[in-house]
Amino acid sequence: MIVQSKKKFTAATPIHAVDSGSFADAVGSASALTQRWLASVAFQARPDTHALVPDAAGKLDSVWAGVRGTAHPWSLAALPKALPPGTYRMGEQGLAIDPEAAAFSWSLGAYVFDRYKPSTAKPRTLVLAPSEAVDRGVRIAQAVAATRNLINTPAEHLGPAELADAVKGVAKQHDAKFRQIVGDALLKSGFPAIHAVGRAATRAPRLIELTWGKASHPLLTLVGKGVCFDSGGLDIKSADGMRQMKKDMGGAANALALASLVMAHRLPVRLQLLIPAVENAIAGNAYRPGDVFKTRQGLHIEIGNTDAEGRVILCDALAYGAEGQPDLMIDMATLTGAARVALGSQLPALFCRDMSLARGLVDRGLRMHDPLWHLPLWRDYHAGIESEVADIVNTGRSALAGAINAAIFLEDFVPADIDWLHIDLFAWNDAARPGRPVGGDAQTVRTLLAFLEERYPRRAGQAT
Ligand code: BES
Ligand code: ZN
Ligand code: ZN
Repeated sequence: MIVQSKKKFTAATPIHAVDSGSFADAVGSASALTQRWLASVAFQARPDTHALVPDAAGKLDSVWAGVRGTAHPWSLAALPKALPPGTYRMGEQGLAIDPEAAAFSWSLGAYVFDRYKPSTAKPRTLVLAPSEAVDRGVRIAQAVAATRNLINTPAEHLGPAELADAVKGVAKQHDAKFRQIVGDALLKSGFPAIHAVGRAATRAPRLIELTWGKASHPLLTLVGKGVCFDSGGLDIKSADGMRQMKKDMGGAANALALASLVMAHRLPVRLQLLIPAVENAIAGNAYRPGDVFKTRQGLHIEIGNTDAEGRVILCDALAYGAEGQPDLMIDMATLTGAARVALGSQLPALFCRDMSLARGLVDRGLRMHDPLWHLPLWRDYHAGIESEVADIVNTGRSALAGAINAAIFLEDFVPADIDWLHIDLFAWNDAARPGRPVGGDAQTVRTLLAFLEERYPRRAGQAT
């Protein structure tokens, strides 16, 4: 928990943040007792380690914490779950941690998904001087935590309707407009592909839409894959492959987090968030391999595999998004296992027609410790997704380059004059790191927020 206070909280235990470069100097100005203690416990200022230093009476006097640097977003993340419950403040010795990084890393360092196992842990509170940077760190951490909660919530409690409720809640917070097109109304409104994928589920498929901002501002359209559970459909997944598929709405959760931050920061854009939300289920009326559907945009798609459902629902959402002629369209999706094979869990794949835009984003992601990696929209592979009976097929002829095949399928629905980013992400930590327990997670949201803030700068004096 973060508390902002103008007063210096002398009762709070100081945390002295150090790295290998600053430790020797910082410890030199500490008391002899502290120096002897840190030597006794062999504290070496390695990242994510800490030492509890007692006073002469055996009470906790201070904490020395190893960090990666002053502005690293996960600088203090290991502490909230490791320190004794109590109130802390940043100490005078060692490094001055950037207040946004301190607020962000401390907040998420305490994150637990406690919906079914309420945690009884007493809070560890960090007192920071009030500032816009602290507000920002807390705000971004809250958006990340909300993303995690959505992804971690099992499909039983997060179907298309509950995902829509989450969007409605965010819309309400920011005075945005909300609407949804549900069930058979998708057919009447021209979203046949979303309907086809979602029609076998007992829970109605839908297109969720949030809009916000002034008509005079450039249109920013965010699209998120909202498959609340992906059984694979008739091309059913293996038990192992299905195990984590509650997270197949991770793109939607990430797009929602980004949308909420765009609104919280009042970027001068007109925002449109589109979430095609379905459950890819099996029943007598399920869509089948070999079926052909005419999509919203007009192209006929053949279903090669019902498990490649993400690109099917996204094609209608992207076509609808493109109708507004956005200045920029970004889609986020847990789209392919192939992107994971290529890049692993930590690196979302970025597809983008503009090389310099892509390179800028990759560099920014590295700087911000919120990475993504550029893969090509290789047009020559398009022949491999052409169909004998329709325009294109949702599986490639070749088993190779699965993430690229999915991306070039989507590309057919985005007119060439629209700046478009497609992000194929994992949205899940399969190994714990400080501040990032095993489970759902936001990816590229901080990087994209910073990119959008630069692309759409707020005018001086504009209220936040
Ligand atoms: N949701 C999956 C992709 C996925 C699987 C993402 C595991 C992250 C982890 C997607 O709908 C899917 O099943 N894709 C298939 C496509 C194939 C049938 C062409 C895949 O990647 O195997
Ligand atoms: Zn699938
Ligand atoms: Zn899927």
